Amino acid sequence: MLSATARQLVRWLNQLGKISDDEGALTRTFLSPAMRRANGCVAQWMHDAGLDVREDAVGNLIGRLEPTPRAGGQGAVPRTLLLGSHLDTVRNAGRFDGALGVLLPIAALHELQVRGVSLPFAVEVLGFSEEEGVRFSSAYLGSKGYSGQLRASDLTLKDSSGFTVREALVPRETRGFRLPEAAHRSSDLVGYVEVHIEQGPVLEQENLAVGVVSGISGQTRGRFRFTGKAGHAGTTPMSMRRDALAGAAELVLFIEQRALAQPPLVATVGTISARPGAPNVIPAEASISLDLRHPQNADRARALQEIVAAARSLARRRGLRVKWQLTQENDAVACSPTLVDLLDSSVRAVQSRSATLVSGAGHDAVIMSAVTPVAMLFVRCREGLSHHPDEYASPADITVALQVMVDFIERLARTPDLVHTARSIRRAKSRRPHKLPSHE
Ligand code: HGY
Ligand code: MN
Ligand code: MN
Repeated sequence: MLSATARQLVRWLNQLGKISDDEGALTRTFLSPAMRRANGCVAQWMHDAGLDVREDAVGNLIGRLEPTPRAGGQGAVPRTLLLGSHLDTVRNAGRFDGALGVLLPIAALHELQVRGVSLPFAVEVLGFSEEEGVRFSSAYLGSKGYSGQLRASDLTLKDSSGFTVREALVPRETRGFRLPEAAHRSSDLVGYVEVHIEQGPVLEQENLAVGVVSGISGQTRGRFRFTGKAGHAGTTPMSMRRDALAGAAELVLFIEQRALAQPPLVATVGTISARPGAPNVIPAEASISLDLRHPQNADRARALQEIVAAARSLARRRGLRVKWQLTQENDAVACSPTLVDLLDSSVRAVQSRSATLVSGAGHDAVIMSAVTPVAMLFVRCREGLSHHPDEYASPADITVALQVMVDFIERLARTPDLVHTARSIRRAKSRRPHKLPSHE
């Protein structure tokens, strides 16, 4: 039986899932018109739930709920709990990836207010503007901006029409664009907790609605560019060719074999292009993307080394030149044992059983882990399908996740050591019990 709040959350997901840049498919990319409409819609829902809403310099949507005055006791200085995920999507996306992790915390805070629960800490719900890396081929620009990790080199990235990130952002600031500072000092934060669909098969196999993430795989993204020599397809003997596309194709198969040989390594060539691109011309240039992931950093680094070495050796044999360009690198992230334990207790309280799993997908939690402890709650999605319009999480599983989040926030409220700044706890602990003057 869905609660009124859970039914409202499902309606929000369906409504947000219709805000798109593309007719007939769900696509919202960094700072696009659909992203502005999505921010406007979610801002209203945040406002209705009693949050103070703002948008920062990189288009992140931030809804803040101040702590109930003195709910934490005299002198306690409340920290801020961060809850959120991303509002951008891949092309032809599903309506749950990212959106669930932004909308569910809004619903949870509304539910707590309906129940009259006062919180001794602040909460910020974050709708990050760019996690997928679709427009500028580099992920996490939103959470990097919010946490003060955006670099000048990020601002020079170009999209397919040659626009740089700086040019995309400047209209938002009348004066030039300054790299944003972190929104908070790490000491003022409780942590960052992200609810996300699993995008994999484990919870379905375990027959569980939700599970707790123990860690997030490391990720390397880049591009190989092969250069050979164009020539006539009909008159150039095979032994005299320097075919860039044949070389790239040989590397694609090597990459696949290398990943198959060492599970859980995963490697994907998602894009391939050839020039001049005519059926009767031997390709002079060919480029392929590489997405490489593994829970252990050393294994991922070794696999990359072997793939680059294979590219160089096949290029020599074929008379080609080859260039490797790294476009993104994130080490594996371990979630905070304290927050994982608390989240696991809430999962057990709601669904009696729990499971912990590693995330093969990257998430904004990877970036946020540099400034605060992180944890993730995964929600079962049908056949583990994601980055696809048929992506689906059931209202029943979403209700379980909502109940877990409400329980988790209430559990945190009963853990002063986590939700008040260390100095206010030190002060409280150091305050000797008031000694009455002795009457000798
Ligand atoms: O690609 C990923 O891992 C995530 O969906 N951004
Ligand atoms: Mn995604
Ligand atoms: Mn996502």
